[in-house]
Amino acid sequence: MYRDTKCGELRLSDAGRDVTIAGWVQRSRKMGGMTFVDVRDRYGITQVVFNNEINPELCNAANTLGREFVVQIKGKVAERSSKNPNMPTGDIEIIADELKVLNRSEIPPFTIEDNTDGGDDLRMKYRYLDLRRPCVRKNLELRHKMAFEIRRYLDSKGFLEIETPILVKSTPEGARDFVVPSRMNPGEFYALPQSPQLFKQLLMVSGYDRYFQIAKCFRDEDLRADRQPEFTQIDCEMSFVEQEDVIETFEGLVKHIFKYVKGIDFTDPFPRMTWHDAMKLYGSDKPDIRFGMPFVELNDVAKGKGFSVADDAELVVGICAQGCAGYTRKQLDELTEFVKRPQVGAKGMIWVKVESDGSFKSSVSKFYSQDDLKAWAERMNAQPGDLILVLTGEAMKTRKQLCELRLEMGNRLGLRDRNVFAPLWVIDFPLFEWDDETQRYYAMHHPFTSPNPEDVDKLRSATGEVRATAYDIVVNGTELGGGSIRIHDAALQDEMFELLGFTPERAMEQFGFLMNAFKYGAPPHGGLALGFDRFVSILAGLDTIRDVIAFPKNNSGRDVMNESPSPIDDAQLEELQLRLDLKKD
Ligand code: AMO
Repeated sequence: MYRDTKCGELRLSDAGRDVTIAGWVQRSRKMGGMTFVDVRDRYGITQVVFNNEINPELCNAANTLGREFVVQIKGKVAERSSKNPNMPTGDIEIIADELKVLNRSEIPPFTIEDNTDGGDDLRMKYRYLDLRRPCVRKNLELRHKMAFEIRRYLDSKGFLEIETPILVKSTPEGARDFVVPSRMNPGEFYALPQSPQLFKQLLMVSGYDRYFQIAKCFRDEDLRADRQPEFTQIDCEMSFVEQEDVIETFEGLVKHIFKYVKGIDFTDPFPRMTWHDAMKLYGSDKPDIRFGMPFVELNDVAKGKGFSVADDAELVVGICAQGCAGYTRKQLDELTEFVKRPQVGAKGMIWVKVESDGSFKSSVSKFYSQDDLKAWAERMNAQPGDLILVLTGEAMKTRKQLCELRLEMGNRLGLRDRNVFAPLWVIDFPLFEWDDETQRYYAMHHPFTSPNPEDVDKLRSATGEVRATAYDIVVNGTELGGGSIRIHDAALQDEMFELLGFTPERAMEQFGFLMNAFKYGAPPHGGLALGFDRFVSILAGLDTIRDVIAFPKNNSGRDVMNESPSPIDDAQLEELQLRLDLKKD
């Protein structure tokens, strides 16, 4: 046996025991005739002491240890004279009797500690070293713990975990597919699944009425802090259910995991907000409701006063930042610069301060009298000491811009506490989304989402107004998951494809297997998928899902450690009967 004791487990009560540990040298320090070596393994750090007076040969050997050497040490546990209350093992040390170097290490490119000197790129290149850092390890431990508990919970509710294929048929809807050429079928390609959507629906047709899978999904889309090209979903589907059943079941799961990981009890049902209200009040289908500051529309009080920025706008809309009337010119300029950044895209920002005596100072005093501004303040319920921030322009764009400004103000005012969790359901999404560029409707969720039964008669007459039976669960401004009740009627599915611009032939070619399956008794069904990486990172209080993925990709979709994607050999291309002819722009 290489070891009988782990580096995180020894306590004062172990003093006097003979133990053997094995691990990595975190650091060593020479102090007088003593050498102290901190040895790390997955479970913690233990200090080992080598005494030059007692065993000079052993001490000399300890003095040659470098960082990250792999060692085995035998010795006796002793109480420390100077204890370290910051370490679980800080009351003890091991007085070494034997030292064996199991492996040497080159000097690592960054310090392997929570507070490392390694930048992002370097840490990703040497991710296997980064993963030795306790803070990264903790995230993976949490991920494991959550996966285990999610499986246990869903099993207890009668869900079966069923694997679905990774090599699937390419479908044009949604994000871009990653494709895989087939050697045995030259010129033909598989796609990697964007989600197991169609398979889980087929499993419902097969009668497996409660399915789940912790499933890898692949999407070739632009990456962000909460998006990776390959990510993991807790993918679920149920038969003989309506929206309410699905929401109740998975609200149960989310609450259970919050309780299990964080000890937080959500006793009330999660709030629900229609998509329409979410957009109107927060400019986002994933509102962060840890704080208020809802949008207030000002069209009727702002237009008609000769200020073209308001007069020509489709929407004049503002937020009220309580207690911010003291903002300096510099702070207001910063906010203006913030909204003008290309990522936000506003042309400018109007501000109105409600002074302590109830008078108004504003960036638009040339156009609006004190009485005019009073009407704004009343509409916004702004009190003396508050700051009103207003944007104008095309309605949807302006709402999205104001959403960014609201979140920025939330950050500045410390209203987005990572230890506060504010989940909600966003419901009643539109079924379709119009795309100006291609002049056609797209499915907002996916083409298998059922229209709200109350709106079916509007499918052709008022297509854009039809609500879907679709729902998202949102936590702290992040879309944690989404799902829908599916169409299980072949005729309605045909109509949906037609509205989405598919010819019957093309629909058959792409989704024929599903449409055929629906001819053989498809039960009413629906489900949802939670983003597992997002779930873990929200609970770990992290900004990016990369920190909860063992080997993530960077923002260009590259794995900088193994340098993929990479060219392939001519021989491989030959085998696939492919020839590269890359377009150069
Ligand atoms: P949707 O596309 O909304 O639904 O995805 C479900 C959840 O998966 C997570 N997610 C991602 N996480 C990390 N990186 C990504 N690139 C990424 N894309 C999505 C999000 C999202 O809420 N088949 C449907 C579900 C259903 O209808 O049952 C689907 O995939 O947390």
